[in-house]
Amino acid sequence: MVDVVVAPAGGSRDYPGKMTFYVFFACLIAATGGLIFGYDVGISGGVTSMDSFLEKFFPAVHRKELDTVSTNQYCKFNSQLLTAFTSSLYLAALVSSLFASTMTRKLGRKWSMFSGGATFLVGATLNGAAVNVAMLILGRLLLGIGIGFASQSVPLYLSEMAPARLRGMLNIGFQLMITIGIFVANVINYGSDKIKGGWGWRVSLALAAVPGAIIAIGALKLPDTPNSLIERGHGEEAKAMLRKIRGTTDIDAEYEDLVVASNQSRRVKHPFANIRMRKYRPQLTMAILIPFFQQLTGINVVMFYSPVLFKTIGFGSSASLMSAVITGLVNVIATFVSIFTVDKLGRRKLLLEGGIQMFVAQIVLAILIGIKFGTSGVATLSKTYAMFVVVFICIYVAGFAWSWGPLGWLVPSEIFPLEIRSAGQSINVAVNMLLTFAIAQVFLPMLCHLKFGLFFFFAGWMFIMTIFVAFFVPETKNVPIEEMILVWKKHWFWGNFVADEDTNIEELEMGGPSKGIPVATQN
Ligand code: BGC
Repeated sequence: MVDVVVAPAGGSRDYPGKMTFYVFFACLIAATGGLIFGYDVGISGGVTSMDSFLEKFFPAVHRKELDTVSTNQYCKFNSQLLTAFTSSLYLAALVSSLFASTMTRKLGRKWSMFSGGATFLVGATLNGAAVNVAMLILGRLLLGIGIGFASQSVPLYLSEMAPARLRGMLNIGFQLMITIGIFVANVINYGSDKIKGGWGWRVSLALAAVPGAIIAIGALKLPDTPNSLIERGHGEEAKAMLRKIRGTTDIDAEYEDLVVASNQSRRVKHPFANIRMRKYRPQLTMAILIPFFQQLTGINVVMFYSPVLFKTIGFGSSASLMSAVITGLVNVIATFVSIFTVDKLGRRKLLLEGGIQMFVAQIVLAILIGIKFGTSGVATLSKTYAMFVVVFICIYVAGFAWSWGPLGWLVPSEIFPLEIRSAGQSINVAVNMLLTFAIAQVFLPMLCHLKFGLFFFFAGWMFIMTIFVAFFVPETKNVPIEEMILVWKKHWFWGNFVADEDTNIEELEMGGPSKGIPVATQN
């Protein structure tokens, strides 16, 4: 049987379709994959600032913390072992995201999501029951593997299920769940810290099993995306799925584009080798630089260490955890700004505005902390002064939450052609995790050495990445995912890497040679 697919003659087209309840619900469940990531980000900072936890697993750090009340505040938490605990997870996530690529491509997106949730569940159980550092670290490695699988598959799933015009909104469900996970973890830490008897940290760590179970069970119920069904040879199922998720029978145009993409995809046997080809240079650059920049905003300094940071500037233990709850709430609420504007304003405007806002907030924070603590690191802050610090941290977090946070996941998940999509997303996750690891690892020593200058350091990166967005990140709102190549072709710089024949959406015979009918670029 020969399937003939005819190219769209006028370039990028809009497919019919609306947001159906079915697609909304599927995306909601899939997005809960973000909960496991967020829960962990939020829980580790709080747990590592709890006295009972430190006393049990890191007694040396605890002694130092007690001993150094009056000495340099910038350096009192500087412990390699403690940072190794926080950051070990991200190395595991990095490695597992590379394996997840094959599973996501060959078995479908849902099995990667399931594996992520299930492994996370086991890790959480081990952590809650930990009696020594070995159990703690092993548990964290499993949590990391889970996060690697989920972060690799969920953003792809969301971007493929969503109709082009609502892709930003639905994809940001992942980031929203990350922020909810962080917030819930902060609240749980605040409560469990108050448990008498010194086992509050167990509650914090064991409750990670809940989001793990949600995504594992949820994934079992999820349908796979039409793109993945076609890629794995289930054409009829894919058609039925498209009708269901688009709420219309008029799905032929979209189906045809997916088939073309899938045929091209089948010719690619080694996606990781192929992604190095010149024509993929724009996408590869983004897969590396976007997560790199996202982490160099310094967001995880606030997310992991805000209780430590607040303690450093003189808040009590409980007040520190409370302030982390406040920044966590700002993070969730500000994400909605992105959800409701990303498909209208577009990705670039949000990145540019958020970048400038974060830059300014970092500079103000550096000055506020510098004035009081100078380089000696000794100071007491008045209540009003401390409130100012918290307010600027919130302004900074809000800027991240509607720009680099969600778009750091959305943009990479929507720019790859199908044949390298899974590999590209793995690179994105791996770079993200590597940088998260590095920042978690070097933050405490950096705070000790750079002191308030640490905030200038991140502000410098904010400046560079905002310039990068202005010149090199194209607008991708509303462009159908399998027609993204046209966006690169049109770009003043990236267009040089894409030859005319690369933009052909060809007339293909299933399994046969391509004839190559060029398509006009999008205007
Ligand atoms: C980042 C995480 C970060 C979180 C904060 C995510 O987009 O990848 O590293 O902790 O946002 O909300």
